[in-house]
Amino acid sequence: MISGFSKLSTKEKIDVIIKQSGLPADSLAKLLSHHHRDLQETYNQFSENTISNFFVPYNIAPNFLIDGKEYFVPMAIEESSVVAAASKSAGFWHKQGGFKTKIIDTLKVGQLFFSTEEPYQFLSSNMNKIQSVLKTATHELTLNMEKRGGGLRNIELQAIEKVPNTYCFHVTFDTKDSMGANFINSCLEAMGESLVQYFTENDKTAQVVMAILSNYTPECIVECKVSCTIKELSYWSGDLKPQEFAEKFKQAVDIAKFNSSRAVTHNKGIMNGIDAVVIATGNDFRAIEANVHAYAAKDGKYTSLTDIDIKNDIFTYTINIPLTIGTVGGLTKSHPLATLSMEILQNPNASELMSIMASAGLANNFAAIASLITTGIQRGHMKMHLSNILLTLNASEEEKVKAIAYFSEQTVSYNAVITYLNKIRQ
Ligand code: MEV
Repeated sequence: MISGFSKLSTKEKIDVIIKQSGLPADSLAKLLSHHHRDLQETYNQFSENTISNFFVPYNIAPNFLIDGKEYFVPMAIEESSVVAAASKSAGFWHKQGGFKTKIIDTLKVGQLFFSTEEPYQFLSSNMNKIQSVLKTATHELTLNMEKRGGGLRNIELQAIEKVPNTYCFHVTFDTKDSMGANFINSCLEAMGESLVQYFTENDKTAQVVMAILSNYTPECIVECKVSCTIKELSYWSGDLKPQEFAEKFKQAVDIAKFNSSRAVTHNKGIMNGIDAVVIATGNDFRAIEANVHAYAAKDGKYTSLTDIDIKNDIFTYTINIPLTIGTVGGLTKSHPLATLSMEILQNPNASELMSIMASAGLANNFAAIASLITTGIQRGHMKMHLSNILLTLNASEEEKVKAIAYFSEQTVSYNAVITYLNKIRQ
Protein backbone atom coordinates (compact mmCIF):
# COMPACT_ATOMS: atom_id res chain seq x y z
CA MET A 1 0.00 0.00 0.00
CA ILE A 2 1.35 3.41 -0.94
CA SER A 3 -0.15 6.71 0.07
CA GLY A 4 0.48 10.07 -1.55
CA PHE A 5 1.56 8.52 -4.87
CA SER A 6 -0.13 11.26 -6.89
CA LYS A 7 1.90 13.91 -5.04
CA LEU A 8 5.24 12.47 -6.20
CA SER A 9 7.05 13.90 -9.22
CA THR A 10 7.08 11.78 -12.40
CA LYS A 11 10.64 10.66 -11.71
CA GLU A 12 9.80 9.76 -8.09
CA LYS A 13 6.75 7.79 -9.22
CA ILE A 14 8.83 5.82 -11.69
CA ASP A 15 11.51 5.15 -9.06
CA VAL A 16 8.90 3.77 -6.67
CA ILE A 17 7.45 1.51 -9.37
CA ILE A 18 10.88 0.25 -10.42
CA LYS A 19 11.78 -0.54 -6.84
CA GLN A 20 8.51 -2.18 -5.82
CA SER A 21 7.97 -4.12 -9.04
CA GLY A 22 11.61 -5.15 -9.34
CA LEU A 23 11.91 -3.72 -12.86
CA PRO A 24 15.27 -3.46 -14.64
CA ALA A 25 16.98 -0.11 -14.07
CA ASP A 26 16.63 0.91 -17.74
CA SER A 27 12.82 1.08 -17.29
CA LEU A 28 13.20 4.72 -16.30
CA ALA A 29 14.98 5.52 -19.56
CA LYS A 30 12.37 3.54 -21.51
CA LEU A 31 9.51 5.48 -19.96
CA LEU A 32 11.26 8.83 -20.41
CA SER A 33 12.11 8.05 -24.02
CA HIS A 34 8.38 8.05 -24.74
CA HIS A 35 7.93 11.53 -23.28
CA HIS A 36 7.11 14.29 -25.74
CA ARG A 37 9.91 16.81 -26.14
CA ASP A 38 7.65 19.90 -26.16
CA LEU A 39 4.14 18.85 -25.20
CA GLN A 40 4.55 16.58 -22.16
CA GLU A 41 2.99 19.15 -19.83
CA THR A 42 -0.12 19.18 -22.04
CA TYR A 43 -0.34 15.37 -22.06
CA ASN A 44 0.20 15.20 -18.30
CA GLN A 45 -2.91 17.31 -17.77
CA PHE A 46 -5.27 14.72 -19.25
CA SER A 47 -4.95 12.23 -16.42
CA GLU A 48 -3.68 11.58 -12.93
CA ASN A 49 -0.36 9.77 -12.36
CA THR A 50 0.88 10.02 -15.95
CA ILE A 51 4.38 8.60 -16.17
CA SER A 52 4.76 8.33 -19.94
CA ASN A 53 2.77 8.10 -23.19
CA PHE A 54 1.48 4.98 -24.90
CA PHE A 55 1.84 5.39 -28.64
CA VAL A 56 -0.78 4.09 -31.04
CA PRO A 57 -0.21 4.53 -34.78
CA TYR A 58 -1.92 7.60 -36.25
CA ASN A 59 -2.95 6.75 -39.82
CA ILE A 60 -4.84 8.20 -42.74
CA ALA A 61 -7.41 6.43 -44.91
CA PRO A 62 -7.73 8.46 -48.11
CA ASN A 63 -10.51 8.68 -50.71
CA PHE A 64 -13.57 8.76 -48.48
CA LEU A 65 -16.35 10.42 -50.48
CA ILE A 66 -19.15 11.17 -48.04
CA ASP A 67 -22.27 13.06 -49.10
CA GLY A 68 -20.33 14.45 -52.05
CA LYS A 69 -17.37 15.69 -50.01
CA GLU A 70 -13.85 14.20 -50.10
CA TYR A 71 -12.10 13.31 -46.86
CA PHE A 72 -8.77 12.01 -45.66
CA VAL A 73 -9.92 10.12 -42.56
CA PRO A 74 -7.54 10.02 -39.56
CA MET A 75 -7.58 6.66 -37.78
CA ALA A 76 -5.72 5.95 -34.55
CA ILE A 77 -5.41 2.17 -34.42
CA GLU A 78 -2.77 -0.50 -33.98
CA GLU A 79 -4.52 -3.40 -35.78
CA SER A 80 -2.43 -3.79 -38.90
CA SER A 81 -5.07 -4.46 -41.56
CA VAL A 82 -7.76 -1.95 -40.54
CA VAL A 83 -6.50 1.15 -42.35
CA ALA A 84 -5.60 -0.84 -45.47
CA ALA A 85 -9.12 -2.31 -45.51
CA ALA A 86 -10.79 1.07 -44.92
CA SER A 87 -8.72 2.67 -47.70
CA LYS A 88 -9.43 -0.08 -50.20
CA SER A 89 -13.12 0.03 -49.43
CA ALA A 90 -13.27 3.85 -49.52
CA GLY A 91 -11.49 3.89 -52.90
CA PHE A 92 -14.00 1.39 -54.35
CA TRP A 93 -17.09 3.16 -53.00
CA HIS A 94 -15.71 6.51 -54.19
CA LYS A 95 -16.09 5.24 -57.75
CA GLN A 96 -19.69 4.19 -56.99
CA GLY A 97 -20.74 7.64 -55.77
CA GLY A 98 -19.49 7.36 -52.21
CA PHE A 99 -21.20 7.04 -48.85
CA LYS A 100 -24.64 8.64 -48.49
CA THR A 101 -25.68 9.48 -44.96
CA LYS A 102 -28.72 10.76 -43.12
CA ILE A 103 -28.89 11.96 -39.53
CA ILE A 104 -32.02 10.36 -38.12
CA ASP A 105 -31.90 12.30 -34.84
CA THR A 106 -29.37 13.66 -32.34
CA LEU A 107 -31.11 13.41 -28.98
CA LYS A 108 -28.98 12.75 -25.88
CA VAL A 109 -30.32 11.30 -22.65
CA GLY A 110 -30.01 12.08 -18.95
CA GLN A 111 -31.46 10.22 -15.98
CA LEU A 112 -32.46 11.64 -12.61
CA PHE A 113 -33.10 8.75 -10.22
CA PHE A 114 -34.91 9.51 -6.99
CA SER A 115 -36.86 7.74 -4.27
CA THR A 116 -40.01 8.69 -2.44
CA GLU A 117 -42.66 6.94 -0.36
CA GLU A 118 -45.32 8.75 -2.39
CA PRO A 119 -47.23 6.55 -4.85
CA TYR A 120 -46.65 6.75 -8.61
CA GLN A 121 -50.11 8.30 -8.80
CA PHE A 122 -48.90 11.39 -6.90
CA LEU A 123 -46.08 11.87 -9.35
CA SER A 124 -48.08 11.23 -12.50
CA SER A 125 -50.97 13.47 -11.47
CA ASN A 126 -48.57 16.33 -10.66
CA MET A 127 -46.37 15.75 -13.69
CA ASN A 128 -47.14 19.09 -15.40
CA LYS A 129 -46.18 21.04 -12.32
CA ILE A 130 -43.07 18.90 -11.67
CA GLN A 131 -41.95 19.25 -15.29
CA SER A 132 -42.24 23.00 -15.01
CA VAL A 133 -40.22 22.99 -11.74
CA LEU A 134 -37.50 20.85 -13.35
CA LYS A 135 -37.37 23.03 -16.47
CA THR A 136 -37.14 26.21 -14.43
CA ALA A 137 -34.24 24.70 -12.46
CA THR A 138 -32.20 24.42 -15.68
CA HIS A 139 -33.10 27.85 -17.01
CA GLU A 140 -29.71 29.51 -16.41
CA LEU A 141 -27.80 26.46 -17.53
CA THR A 142 -29.64 26.03 -20.81
CA LEU A 143 -29.54 29.69 -21.97
CA ASN A 144 -26.35 29.32 -24.01
CA MET A 145 -27.31 25.95 -25.43
CA GLU A 146 -30.68 27.37 -26.48
CA LYS A 147 -28.91 30.21 -28.30
CA ARG A 148 -27.11 27.49 -30.31
CA GLY A 149 -30.47 25.84 -31.09
CA GLY A 150 -30.18 23.09 -28.49
CA GLY A 151 -31.52 22.59 -24.98
CA LEU A 152 -33.84 20.42 -22.97
CA ARG A 153 -36.35 18.55 -25.12
CA ASN A 154 -38.51 16.26 -22.99
CA ILE A 155 -38.99 14.94 -19.45
CA GLU A 156 -40.64 11.59 -18.93
CA LEU A 157 -41.44 9.84 -15.65
CA GLN A 158 -40.49 6.17 -15.35
CA ALA A 159 -40.95 3.79 -12.41
CA ILE A 160 -37.98 1.51 -11.76
CA GLU A 161 -40.21 -1.45 -11.25
CA LYS A 162 -37.95 -3.91 -9.47
CA VAL A 163 -36.52 -1.32 -7.07
CA PRO A 164 -39.10 -0.25 -4.46
CA ASN A 165 -40.07 3.46 -4.26
CA THR A 166 -37.61 4.35 -6.99
CA TYR A 167 -38.34 6.49 -10.06
CA CYS A 168 -36.49 8.14 -12.87
CA PHE A 169 -36.95 11.29 -14.86
CA HIS A 170 -35.74 10.33 -18.30
CA VAL A 171 -34.69 13.62 -19.85
CA THR A 172 -33.79 14.19 -23.48
CA PHE A 173 -31.53 16.99 -24.67
CA ASP A 174 -30.20 18.39 -27.90
CA THR A 175 -26.59 19.35 -27.23
CA LYS A 176 -25.76 20.48 -30.78
CA ASP A 177 -22.03 20.06 -31.51
CA SER A 178 -20.97 19.15 -27.98
CA MET A 179 -21.04 15.63 -26.60
CA GLY A 180 -22.87 17.38 -23.78
CA ALA A 181 -21.85 15.27 -20.78
CA ASN A 182 -21.09 18.22 -18.49
CA PHE A 183 -24.11 20.17 -19.68
CA ILE A 184 -26.48 17.24 -19.14
CA ASN A 185 -25.04 16.31 -15.74
CA SER A 186 -25.23 19.92 -14.51
CA CYS A 187 -28.87 20.19 -15.65
CA LEU A 188 -29.77 16.92 -13.96
CA GLU A 189 -28.13 17.90 -10.67
CA ALA A 190 -29.98 21.24 -10.69
CA MET A 191 -33.22 19.37 -11.40
CA GLY A 192 -32.51 17.03 -8.50
CA GLU A 193 -32.20 19.92 -6.04
CA SER A 194 -35.44 21.50 -7.25
CA LEU A 195 -37.25 18.20 -7.12
CA VAL A 196 -36.34 17.67 -3.45
CA GLN A 197 -37.39 21.27 -2.73
CA TYR A 198 -40.73 20.77 -4.52
CA PHE A 199 -41.48 17.75 -2.36
CA THR A 200 -40.51 19.63 0.83
CA GLU A 201 -42.76 22.55 -0.09
CA ASN A 202 -45.61 20.07 -0.43
CA ASP A 203 -44.87 18.48 2.97
CA LYS A 204 -43.53 15.36 1.35
CA THR A 205 -40.05 13.87 0.98
CA ALA A 206 -37.93 12.66 -1.90
CA GLN A 207 -34.24 11.85 -2.10
CA VAL A 208 -32.06 12.01 -5.18
CA VAL A 209 -30.32 8.66 -5.74
CA MET A 210 -28.16 9.81 -8.65
CA ALA A 211 -28.16 12.15 -11.62
CA ILE A 212 -26.14 11.20 -14.68
CA LEU A 213 -26.32 11.16 -18.46
CA SER A 214 -27.11 7.83 -20.10
CA ASN A 215 -24.65 6.55 -22.65
CA TYR A 216 -27.53 4.74 -24.34
CA THR A 217 -28.88 7.08 -27.02
CA PRO A 218 -31.22 5.16 -29.35
CA GLU A 219 -32.42 8.52 -30.69
CA CYS A 220 -29.00 9.78 -31.74
CA ILE A 221 -28.70 7.81 -34.95
CA VAL A 222 -26.91 8.13 -38.25
CA GLU A 223 -27.76 6.05 -41.30
CA CYS A 224 -25.05 5.44 -43.90
CA LYS A 225 -25.51 3.71 -47.25
CA VAL A 226 -23.47 2.55 -50.22
CA SER A 227 -24.76 1.01 -53.41
CA CYS A 228 -23.52 -0.24 -56.76
CA THR A 229 -24.54 -2.52 -59.61
CA ILE A 230 -23.80 -6.20 -59.06
CA LYS A 231 -21.35 -6.11 -61.99
CA GLU A 232 -19.11 -3.63 -60.14
CA LEU A 233 -18.62 -6.16 -57.36
CA SER A 234 -16.22 -8.06 -59.65
CA TYR A 235 -13.52 -5.87 -58.02
CA TRP A 236 -14.03 -7.90 -54.82
CA SER A 237 -15.42 -11.20 -56.01
CA GLY A 238 -12.17 -13.09 -56.75
CA ASP A 239 -13.01 -16.55 -58.05
CA LEU A 240 -16.73 -15.96 -57.56
CA LYS A 241 -19.02 -14.40 -60.14
CA PRO A 242 -20.25 -10.95 -58.96
CA GLN A 243 -23.81 -12.30 -58.53
CA GLU A 244 -22.50 -15.21 -56.43
CA PHE A 245 -20.42 -12.77 -54.40
CA ALA A 246 -23.47 -10.58 -53.75
CA GLU A 247 -25.54 -13.57 -52.65
CA LYS A 248 -22.80 -14.94 -50.42
CA PHE A 249 -22.34 -11.47 -48.94
CA LYS A 250 -26.06 -11.38 -48.16
CA GLN A 251 -25.82 -14.83 -46.61
CA ALA A 252 -22.95 -13.60 -44.37
CA VAL A 253 -24.95 -10.55 -43.28
CA ASP A 254 -28.05 -12.69 -42.65
CA ILE A 255 -25.96 -15.03 -40.48
CA ALA A 256 -24.93 -12.00 -38.39
CA LYS A 257 -28.60 -10.97 -38.19
CA PHE A 258 -29.67 -14.28 -36.69
CA ASN A 259 -26.59 -15.59 -34.89
CA SER A 260 -25.50 -13.42 -31.98
CA SER A 261 -22.01 -14.92 -31.66
CA ARG A 262 -21.33 -13.99 -35.26
CA ALA A 263 -23.06 -10.61 -34.84
CA VAL A 264 -20.56 -9.63 -32.13
CA THR A 265 -17.63 -10.25 -34.49
CA HIS A 266 -19.44 -8.64 -37.42
CA ASN A 267 -20.04 -5.51 -35.31
CA LYS A 268 -16.46 -5.61 -34.00
CA GLY A 269 -15.36 -5.24 -37.63
CA ILE A 270 -17.57 -2.13 -37.85
CA MET A 271 -16.09 -0.74 -34.63
CA ASN A 272 -12.56 -1.26 -36.00
CA GLY A 273 -13.24 1.68 -38.30
CA ILE A 274 -15.40 3.72 -35.96
CA ASP A 275 -13.22 3.52 -32.83
CA ALA A 276 -10.16 4.49 -34.83
CA VAL A 277 -11.83 7.75 -35.89
CA VAL A 278 -13.36 8.26 -32.45
CA ILE A 279 -9.91 8.04 -30.84
CA ALA A 280 -8.21 10.18 -33.51
CA THR A 281 -10.77 12.93 -32.91
CA GLY A 282 -10.50 12.78 -29.12
CA ASN A 283 -13.96 11.35 -28.51
CA ASP A 284 -14.93 8.83 -25.83
CA PHE A 285 -14.67 5.34 -27.34
CA ARG A 286 -15.93 3.61 -24.16
CA ALA A 287 -19.18 5.56 -24.37
CA ILE A 288 -19.52 4.83 -28.08
CA GLU A 289 -18.86 1.09 -27.60
CA ALA A 290 -21.31 0.74 -24.70
CA ASN A 291 -23.98 2.56 -26.68
CA VAL A 292 -23.51 0.71 -29.95
CA HIS A 293 -23.66 -2.77 -28.44
CA ALA A 294 -26.71 -1.95 -26.30
CA TYR A 295 -28.36 -0.65 -29.49
CA ALA A 296 -27.45 -3.85 -31.32
CA ALA A 297 -29.43 -5.74 -28.65
CA LYS A 298 -32.36 -3.29 -28.50
CA ASP A 299 -34.92 -5.86 -29.68
CA GLY A 300 -33.91 -8.37 -27.01
CA LYS A 301 -31.33 -10.26 -29.04
CA TYR A 302 -27.88 -9.08 -30.11
CA THR A 303 -27.81 -8.64 -33.88
CA SER A 304 -25.94 -7.08 -36.80
CA LEU A 305 -25.92 -3.29 -37.20
CA THR A 306 -25.89 -3.52 -40.99
CA ASP A 307 -28.59 -4.38 -43.49
CA ILE A 308 -28.35 -5.55 -47.05
CA ASP A 309 -30.66 -5.26 -49.99
CA ILE A 310 -30.19 -6.76 -53.43
CA LYS A 311 -32.85 -5.69 -55.88
CA ASN A 312 -33.03 -5.05 -59.64
CA ASP A 313 -29.34 -5.70 -60.01
CA ILE A 314 -28.43 -3.12 -57.35
CA PHE A 315 -26.47 -4.05 -54.23
CA THR A 316 -27.21 -1.70 -51.30
CA TYR A 317 -25.49 -1.94 -47.95
CA THR A 318 -26.61 0.16 -44.98
CA ILE A 319 -25.69 0.78 -41.38
CA ASN A 320 -27.82 2.44 -38.71
CA ILE A 321 -25.84 3.28 -35.64
CA PRO A 322 -26.02 5.52 -32.55
CA LEU A 323 -22.95 7.76 -32.35
CA THR A 324 -22.89 10.25 -29.51
CA ILE A 325 -19.93 12.47 -30.18
CA GLY A 326 -18.88 16.07 -29.93
CA THR A 327 -16.82 18.47 -31.99
CA VAL A 328 -16.54 21.22 -29.42
CA GLY A 329 -15.14 20.93 -25.91
CA GLY A 330 -13.47 17.90 -24.38
CA LEU A 331 -10.28 16.39 -25.74
CA THR A 332 -11.22 17.45 -29.29
CA LYS A 333 -9.99 20.94 -28.53
CA SER A 334 -7.21 20.18 -26.03
CA HIS A 335 -5.36 17.18 -27.50
CA PRO A 336 -3.02 18.51 -30.19
CA LEU A 337 -3.52 15.55 -32.54
CA ALA A 338 -7.29 15.45 -32.00
CA THR A 339 -7.40 19.11 -33.03
CA LEU A 340 -5.30 18.30 -36.08
CA SER A 341 -7.62 15.39 -36.96
CA MET A 342 -10.54 17.80 -36.92
CA GLU A 343 -8.61 20.11 -39.25
CA ILE A 344 -7.79 17.22 -41.60
CA LEU A 345 -11.53 16.47 -41.61
CA GLN A 346 -12.20 20.15 -42.48
CA ASN A 347 -13.65 20.88 -39.03
CA PRO A 348 -16.92 18.97 -39.32
CA ASN A 349 -19.87 19.68 -37.06
CA ALA A 350 -21.14 16.83 -34.86
CA SER A 351 -23.58 15.54 -37.48
CA GLU A 352 -20.91 15.50 -40.17
CA LEU A 353 -18.53 13.70 -37.84
CA MET A 354 -21.24 11.09 -37.12
CA SER A 355 -21.49 10.57 -40.88
CA ILE A 356 -17.71 10.22 -41.26
CA MET A 357 -17.49 7.69 -38.43
CA ALA A 358 -20.41 5.63 -39.75
CA SER A 359 -18.77 5.61 -43.21
CA ALA A 360 -15.48 4.36 -41.75
CA GLY A 361 -17.39 1.62 -39.91
CA LEU A 362 -19.28 0.54 -43.00
CA ALA A 363 -16.11 0.66 -45.11
CA ASN A 364 -14.23 -1.63 -42.73
CA ASN A 365 -17.12 -4.04 -42.28
CA PHE A 366 -17.66 -4.27 -46.05
CA ALA A 367 -13.99 -5.07 -46.67
CA ALA A 368 -13.95 -7.66 -43.85
CA ILE A 369 -17.01 -9.52 -45.19
CA ALA A 370 -15.63 -9.34 -48.75
CA SER A 371 -12.41 -11.04 -47.57
CA LEU A 372 -14.18 -13.56 -45.36
CA ILE A 373 -16.37 -14.86 -48.19
CA THR A 374 -13.59 -14.98 -50.79
CA THR A 375 -9.93 -15.48 -49.83
CA GLY A 376 -10.54 -15.75 -46.08
CA ILE A 377 -9.30 -13.11 -43.71
CA GLN A 378 -5.89 -14.52 -42.93
CA ARG A 379 -4.19 -13.88 -46.24
CA GLY A 380 -4.51 -10.09 -46.01
CA HIS A 381 -4.28 -10.05 -42.25
CA MET A 382 -1.07 -12.03 -41.99
CA LYS A 383 0.56 -10.07 -44.82
CA MET A 384 -0.01 -6.93 -42.78
CA HIS A 385 1.01 -8.76 -39.62
CA LEU A 386 4.32 -9.79 -41.21
CA SER A 387 5.95 -6.48 -40.40
CA ASN A 388 4.92 -6.85 -36.73
CA ILE A 389 6.45 -10.33 -36.61
CA LEU A 390 9.65 -9.08 -38.27
CA LEU A 391 9.84 -6.29 -35.71
CA THR A 392 9.40 -8.72 -32.82
CA LEU A 393 12.17 -10.91 -34.27
CA ASN A 394 14.55 -7.93 -34.64
CA ALA A 395 14.87 -8.41 -38.39
CA SER A 396 17.35 -6.07 -40.10
CA GLU A 397 16.22 -3.80 -42.98
CA GLU A 398 17.79 -6.21 -45.48
CA GLU A 399 16.07 -9.22 -43.87
CA LYS A 400 12.74 -7.36 -43.94
CA VAL A 401 13.00 -6.67 -47.66
CA LYS A 402 13.86 -10.32 -48.35
CA ALA A 403 11.09 -11.63 -46.07
CA ILE A 404 8.42 -9.38 -47.63
CA ALA A 405 9.40 -10.57 -51.10
CA TYR A 406 9.45 -14.23 -49.98
CA PHE A 407 6.10 -14.10 -48.17
CA SER A 408 4.30 -12.40 -51.05
CA GLU A 409 3.99 -15.98 -52.38
CA GLN A 410 3.84 -17.89 -49.07
CA THR A 411 1.49 -18.25 -46.12
CA VAL A 412 2.62 -16.07 -43.22
CA SER A 413 2.80 -17.53 -39.74
CA TYR A 414 5.01 -16.73 -36.77
CA ASN A 415 6.84 -20.05 -37.10
CA ALA A 416 7.22 -19.75 -40.86
CA VAL A 417 8.87 -16.33 -40.41
CA ILE A 418 11.27 -17.70 -37.74
CA THR A 419 12.19 -20.62 -40.00
CA TYR A 420 12.76 -18.27 -42.93
CA LEU A 421 14.90 -15.84 -40.89
CA ASN A 422 16.97 -18.71 -39.47
CA LYS A 423 17.54 -19.95 -43.00
CA ILE A 424 18.74 -16.62 -44.41
CA ARG A 425 20.80 -15.91 -41.30
CA GLN A 426 22.87 -19.08 -41.71
C1 MEV B 1 -11.03 -8.36 -37.13
O1 MEV B 1 -10.53 -7.29 -36.40
C2 MEV B 1 -12.42 -8.04 -37.63
C3 MEV B 1 -13.15 -9.19 -38.30
O2 MEV B 1 -13.17 -10.33 -37.44
C4 MEV B 1 -14.54 -8.72 -38.60
C5 MEV B 1 -15.48 -9.79 -39.12
O3 MEV B 1 -15.28 -11.00 -38.86
O4 MEV B 1 -16.46 -9.40 -39.78
C6 MEV B 1 -12.44 -9.62 -39.57
